[in-house]
Amino acid sequence: MKTKFNAAGIIGLGSCVPDKVLTNFDLEKMVDTSDEWIVKRTGISERRILDKSTPASHIGAEAARKAISNAGLTPLDIDMIIVTTETPDYLTPSMACMIQDQIGAGKCPAFDLNAACSGFIYGLVVARQFIITGSCRYVLVVGCEGLSRVVDWEDRSTCILFSDGAGAAVVGAVEEGYGIISTYIGADGSLGHNITIPCCYMNESDVEKRHHENKRVIWLDGGEVFKFAVKALEEATNRVLQDAGLTINDVDLLVPHQANARIIEGAAKRLEIDNESIYVNIHKYGNMSSASIPVALDEAMRNKMIKKGDILVLVGFGGGLTLGSVLLKWNIG
Ligand code: ACO
Repeated sequence: MKTKFNAAGIIGLGSCVPDKVLTNFDLEKMVDTSDEWIVKRTGISERRILDKSTPASHIGAEAARKAISNAGLTPLDIDMIIVTTETPDYLTPSMACMIQDQIGAGKCPAFDLNAACSGFIYGLVVARQFIITGSCRYVLVVGCEGLSRVVDWEDRSTCILFSDGAGAAVVGAVEEGYGIISTYIGADGSLGHNITIPCCYMNESDVEKRHHENKRVIWLDGGEVFKFAVKALEEATNRVLQDAGLTINDVDLLVPHQANARIIEGAAKRLEIDNESIYVNIHKYGNMSSASIPVALDEAMRNKMIKKGDILVLVGFGGGLTLGSVLLKWNIG
């Protein structure tokens, strides 16, 4: 008989980014930009880029191995793999199936979930359901992205923003009162045209917007996304706080999606939260889409910035357009 659990939480974390660093000074040699402009407008100083021969699933698999080991488990203990990505190596096999094979996780169900930069939040929400219904004991959620592969390296308005990376979490049953306390996920497809990466189809407008010969590159309306993002971070954070009966003053650490330091500052101002309570690593990585939040969370844990009982809010927004948040009472430590 299946055992239902009352509480699910993150029981292990891991991350992996490529070794190759691309600095703002490197970009100065590629497009008409400057380190000063990029730092002032985005907060980004450098980013990580996969080499041509390495599939993104390799860094996803490495992040997964670390998370499984951090949870004190082996790959064969994993009951389900969810990979959140908007840049899969292949449409089929899914990145989740590739990672299952690479880490030797047996024959558990494995699938990709695309909610762009909000993907890891969506993944945690889905994983939690499988734990509390008793369908799974351990679900692996991996945010894994190779955004450098969908960037037009001649477009200065986008190529400065994106980066490759992977972060993973094992979700399992935890002590009651700890782990994931409240969640919120949402989407507004009517705004989807503001961030696009065409794949198997594209319309005339998609073609016109792209100046590169390769049309399967990312395009975004930076200003529109910026406005949506600041409101989304505020709204999604407030939703999980209200559901948990808490206020912003109860939050020990806010881990937001890392797209632009000015977006984070704008949201922080609206939320009236101190800068010390927000985890920011955008200067080192830029925007790794669904990998940004788990990489930041893993760093925060390894830097001993989180202790058992702390209240954490993970909050994201992105293509779709999507948004989401998870409030956790930290159960590790
Ligand atoms: N270097 C120098 N100048 C630049 C650069 C650059 N890299 N990029 C743009 N400019 C210029 C523009 O051409 C423009 O010049 P003009 O005034 O002569 O036309 C000027 O700088 C201002 O451009 P803006 O687009 O208004 O600059 P802004 O301050 O809005 O910053 C940015 C642009 C960084 C893209 C910002 O809008 C942003 O971060 N938006 C949100 C992006 C985001 O969050 N994406 C997340 C989701 S992505 C996903 O899901 C994968």
